[in-house]
Amino acid sequence: MSQRPDKHDPSTLHTMTQAVHAGNEVDAGSGALRTPIVMANSFALPGDPSEISWSGTDIPLYTRNSGVNQLALQRKLALLEGGEDAVALASGVAALHAVFFTFLSTGDHVVVADVTYEATWRLFTELLPDKYGIQVTMVDATDLDAMAAAVRPTTRLVHIESIANPTTKVTDVAAVAAIAHEAGALLSIDNTFSPPFLFRPIDHGADLVVHSLTKYINGHGDAMGGAVIGRADLVRQIKNDAMVDVGGVISPFNAWLIMRGSVTLPLRLRQHVESAQAIAEFLEGDPRVVFVAYPGLPSHPQHEVAARQFSGGFGGMMAFAVDGDPETQNRFVANLRVITSAVSLGHDESLIVHVGTGGGRVAAYPPEFSTWGHLRFSVGLEDAGDLIDDLSAALDATFG
Ligand SMILES: Cc1ncc(COP(=O)(O)O)c(C=O)c1O
Repeated sequence: MSQRPDKHDPSTLHTMTQAVHAGNEVDAGSGALRTPIVMANSFALPGDPSEISWSGTDIPLYTRNSGVNQLALQRKLALLEGGEDAVALASGVAALHAVFFTFLSTGDHVVVADVTYEATWRLFTELLPDKYGIQVTMVDATDLDAMAAAVRPTTRLVHIESIANPTTKVTDVAAVAAIAHEAGALLSIDNTFSPPFLFRPIDHGADLVVHSLTKYINGHGDAMGGAVIGRADLVRQIKNDAMVDVGGVISPFNAWLIMRGSVTLPLRLRQHVESAQAIAEFLEGDPRVVFVAYPGLPSHPQHEVAARQFSGGFGGMMAFAVDGDPETQNRFVANLRVITSAVSLGHDESLIVHVGTGGGRVAAYPPEFSTWGHLRFSVGLEDAGDLIDDLSAALDATFG
């Protein structure tokens, strides 16, 4: 593989340029301008392989250690998030697990935001305490005094989400980083809802950034992946422990798809943000909608933190409910014609899911979420006017 001789060092260029060029290399074999998909699980060894570390992760050796497409994606993600290195894994949950598995041991304490993605919540309320004796305190991450009070001498990790799934609660990352570091703990942050171009947590003091690449970074709803980005020594530990010896690696094909999808990330995010703002304002202005949670609305409880922190805008995710019981929420969703009822988020296509009022996590949600339940809405790349017309027609059809 060779870099084109006239190439700039991508680290000196802006995010939009990095999104196009970072990680990619001209293929020395074919001359192809794009790193081709290399579907091989083993690579040729040198004449004397006896000195090779079988846990090594820097040269293509075996696809559970590293492969051409994984390495390309890792280089790109490290640049986009402003980290020293990155590890790409099979899913966002594999990436979350990799952080927790690598840095936590029995008896260690973790401070976790009280609103997180479902799997993170279950890992910290059931699996990690029950199976491995990890001590967990869940705290409202917007309450900085409560966060500071929750740390203990054994606190090894603080874990938060930049914009929480699903309530859209926004955490002041620099303030929480200071609390974590004062306690000698690492700060890991799930940045899935506010990818680079909107926000880079490492610039605000985070040690490790986690992504579900399945979402905005791929952006096309056709591949799963996850990543952790951060300091080289921390990422190396994750590669050695959680990637090589636990094995949740990304496939070359998915790494290639995500590499391709990520080229348009800044352009797509610009549209997601613009449309989401217009739609949130439309929904908030309709009396048949009982609440809208979107960080770009002045009514959002952390709007000021979000405005200060998210240099590229407030993201494409919101939660809302229409005035009625769960059956009414379902009827509203069934009346939509452009927006699709499905899980996942950050795709080209708008996705909505009725999450309901049940479940243990809801105790930490704002009261309106447990009164009406909520619809988690991922605003897609369709024309914003068409989306507003779809929502408006569904409101009319539901309420007559
Ligand atoms: C914030 C967040 N983190 C992590 C994940 C898990 O990602 P994956 O589905 O790729 O495992 C999700 C999935 O919805 C998510 O919303």
